[in-house]
Amino acid sequence: MTPPLSLGVLGCSSIARRRTLPAATSLDQVRIAAVASRTPERAVAFAAEFGGTPCGYDELVENDDVGAVYIGLPNALHHEWTRRALAAGKHVLCEKPLTGDPATTKDVVDLAAERGLVLRENFAFLHHPQHERVRELMARGRFGEVRTLSASFGIPPLPASDIRYDAGLGGGALLDTGVYPLRLAWLLLGEGLTVAGAVLRVDDQLGIDVSGHALLVSPQGVLADLEFGFQHTYRCRYQLWGSAASLLLDRAFITPPEYQPSLRIEEQDHTETFILSAAHQIRRSLGSFADAALGGRTDRTEAPWLAGAQETARLVEEIRSVAVRVPGTDGAR
Ligand SMILES: NC(=O)c1ccc[n+]([C@@H]2O[C@H](COP(=O)([O-])OP(=O)(O)OC[C@H]3O[C@@H](n4cnc5c(N)ncnc54)[C@H](OP(=O)(O)O)[C@@H]3O)[C@@H](O)[C@H]2O)c1
Repeated sequence: MTPPLSLGVLGCSSIARRRTLPAATSLDQVRIAAVASRTPERAVAFAAEFGGTPCGYDELVENDDVGAVYIGLPNALHHEWTRRALAAGKHVLCEKPLTGDPATTKDVVDLAAERGLVLRENFAFLHHPQHERVRELMARGRFGEVRTLSASFGIPPLPASDIRYDAGLGGGALLDTGVYPLRLAWLLLGEGLTVAGAVLRVDDQLGIDVSGHALLVSPQGVLADLEFGFQHTYRCRYQLWGSAASLLLDRAFITPPEYQPSLRIEEQDHTETFILSAAHQIRRSLGSFADAALGGRTDRTEAPWLAGAQETARLVEEIRSVAVRVPGTDGAR
């Protein structure tokens, strides 16, 4: 039997504690080898809960017992630590967004390819089979000619101390919630999207965007109308609107493991709802990463993940360059 992937965890983050490590410890093909924190006591507490040797960041990337690194650090640290882990010969599963910038994304994508290592951006929603079902329905023409994809991911204001409000740590709604609808647009509409227009609501005191809206267009003329932010009641859904029918999928990006998604299809005089099976997207993302790192990796298996990360970074840059900026103060302050 193949020994499990020995995973090092960089940063005792909220996402690691609530979601990633409980899923990792439930997988046979993963073993927590080390957990690193800037604060030794935090690493010790994490190790007591999830296993592994407590240590500091430098020690973790130099540890020969670590075969792969999970990076749950603030966005601004993703590039540096992904680069360091890859340079030390480790596979990397980095939280989204991989870096949020095309040049640094390309830098680590090239390094991973050169070293023959797995580099994945942890967009767990991509591993939920509900989107594959939507793609099959699109391919079969169930919606006729698709005219518009509308996707929204908005959340209520966060505590003022949250990393998402810190410009120096790579905060802002576009990099946090906005990247989900962008990645979805690439998944459903394919290559060649361009940004037709965008608005970013910017909190000048914090120096970050707190919400925004972007209109993209595909080479075939399909529109992607995307909204995101920290100024909303919770919404996490998308719709496709075609010449024959429309589709609504709720809880599309953060889908709880026990949740049975419902695909609602509407026609002129007829509505159908398909209830799909529940799936644990975080466990599936980790399992897929582990399988690739344990020997399943080929340039071909990794190409879509790497291309998706680069495309998301390109669209982020394009939105930033064309966006009309309007004042926006977060309700939390
Ligand atoms: N895939 C998903 O569904 C999902 C969901 C939520 C978040 N995320 C992503 O996960 C990452 C972390 O988000 P989070 O909400 O878990 O953040 P968080 O709880 O604030 O954790 C960030 C961790 O980074 C470490 N860190 C290193 N330098 C830091 C600094 N200068 N300031 C603050 N923390 C620092 C800290 O660990 P130590 O103190 O232990 O060193 C901290 O616990 C982000 O990239 C976010 O986009 C992904």
